[in-house]
Formats: sequence, C-alpha cells, structure tokens
Amino acid sequence: MAYNVLLFADPGVDDSFAIMYALLNPKINLVGVVSGYGNTPKEQSIRNTAYLLSLGGREDIPIIGGAAGPLSGELVQYYPEIHGKEGLGPIKPPDTLKNVKVFDFNKILEIIKQYNGNLIIVSVGRLTELALMFILYGDNVLKDVSAFYIMGGAFLVPGNITSEAEANFFVDPIAAYTVMEKAHNIYLHPLNITNKAIITPEIINYLSENSPTPFKPLIKPAFDYYFNAYQTNVPGIKGAPLHDVVPLMALTNPDLVKYIPRRVRVEQFGNAKGKSIADFRPKPDKEPIESLDYIGMEANIQKFAQNFTDTFLRGEFQKE
Ligand code: RIB
Ligand code: CA
Repeated sequence: MAYNVLLFADPGVDDSFAIMYALLNPKINLVGVVSGYGNTPKEQSIRNTAYLLSLGGREDIPIIGGAAGPLSGELVQYYPEIHGKEGLGPIKPPDTLKNVKVFDFNKILEIIKQYNGNLIIVSVGRLTELALMFILYGDNVLKDVSAFYIMGGAFLVPGNITSEAEANFFVDPIAAYTVMEKAHNIYLHPLNITNKAIITPEIINYLSENSPTPFKPLIKPAFDYYFNAYQTNVPGIKGAPLHDVVPLMALTNPDLVKYIPRRVRVEQFGNAKGKSIADFRPKPDKEPIESLDYIGMEANIQKFAQNFTDTFLRGEFQKE
C-alpha cells in the first residue's frame, strides 16, 4: 500500500528531484503539491511544479498556490546562483505550458478530509504555509494528518545560510517555530543528515543515459547547475546533496534514518535567527511527551544513493 503524500515544496533543483522521486516511487501516492515562494518566487515555483507534473503525465495531481513571502513580511531573497534563474538550473518550463489550474489554499482542508486520517504531509520548503494553516484555521486543523516529514534545521553542525541556520528555518523562523510547536508526530530531516545525502555526477551521468523516465532530459542539466554552485561553496565536495529527497525516502524506507525524540525550538530573532535548538545532554530536561519531535541524527547514505538510482531507473510508474 502506498502512502498518500501532500507535498509542500518550493522548486528549486532539489525540490524538483523530490517531486520526480515522489512520482516515480511506487510507495508514494502524491495527492497534491503546495507550491510557494522559497528558492524562487511563488509563480515560478508553481510553473516548475506544473512542468514536472505534466512531464510525468500527472496533470491530475492538484497544485495549490502557497505563500508569496514569510510571516514577518520581510522581502524575500532568491538563490538563482544555486537553483537557476527559473529554479530548474538552466531549464525554463516551455511556453506551451498554459492554463495551469491552481487551487486556493483551502483545497488543503479538502484533501485532509478526503484522506481521512490516512495522509502524510511532507514539507521541503519554507514552513510559511503550514504555519498559516494553524493561524487561519486553529490549532486542531492538522490533527488528522498522520505524520509530518520535514526537511529543515541543523543540529550540532553549521547552517547553510548563516553560520547558525538552515535555509528553510532561516527564511521564515516564526513559521518554523510555530510548526515545530503546534504540529504533532514530526520527523525532522536536518542538515546534519541531508548534507550527507550526496548524489555524485557519476550517478547522474549514468541516469541521464539510462533512465527510462520522462524526466531523463532534465536530470543532468538541472543537477550540473546545482552541483557547480555546491563546488563553489564547498570546495572539494564530491557531489551535491539532494536535501529534499531525504524525507520522502525516509518515509518509504523506515530503516534509512535514525531519529531521537527531543523538543525542537527555533530562534525567531537576532543573530541566531532560524537556529534549531534541542537538548542533547545525556539527561535532557523532561518535556511533555506530545512536545517531542523525532530528529534525524544518522542516515544510511549508501542506501540513499542506491535507492535514488533504482527509483530513477524504474521503467514504468504504475502505482502498486
Ligand atoms: O537547506 C536546504 C533547503 O533549502 C532545501 O529545501 C533547499 O531546497 C533549500 O531551499
Ligand atoms: Ca526546498
């Protein structure tokens, strides 16, 4: 049986690989994609999602328009040097992509109701939309979601956008704090594991020759652009981390990540804005059980590369 997944994303190169991975993985039934600002502006994020769904022949999957900026109202900075001007590296979704249907935010409520306790939310972008759910509809709005698989934060390692903070938490720290405090059953995939989820150019070259999927033409140009940026930022790096694939793979491969339960808080202001905090002392302060989040602290990196390769080599993507 496949997991019903509602994905919140901001494609972005690694988000785009996450969307392709979700469409190709037979254990995932992608039931909607909430596309908001983040790596690119909201409108571009929506177009990229629409392009990937159309390439995959899955225009039936609803796209929901997400947020255009963070709760603070601050101006958003985008990252064309990492993700490309349009978010897919050098690739521009074709002009023939027209009449993309975009659902309003309240479609999320409809989807939660439709899947009636059998829905996982995977979030790989800024946390603004999830926080808005609580702000708009109250603290119980997501009680029927079985679990939240989130990419965000950094524990006991440096950040990637400031010395302290990871990008998804930094750009909307108020939202990240809100979600970590109000959502239940959170499985968090921070930089300390996702930085190691490296895909090498050798794997990409192999897939760009041999992947029988409709995504084949995108794989190499999108990856190479993103990898070039990583090589500039992290001299000597052997490949590029596909952060956003990790929570989806962890969901469908329960032995991929080892988690430890701790209450996560997020700094909302000041120099450490966006920093994720948890008590890792051998005897941490006692916290109410419902406030604990599962923090990914170790991941099987060989398995990550193998499962990624196998998934992009799948010849058909009928759901099991
Ligand atoms: O820190 C990694 C996260 O920030 C990923 O979600 C990536 O897409 C970037 O925006
Ligand atoms: Ca992302």
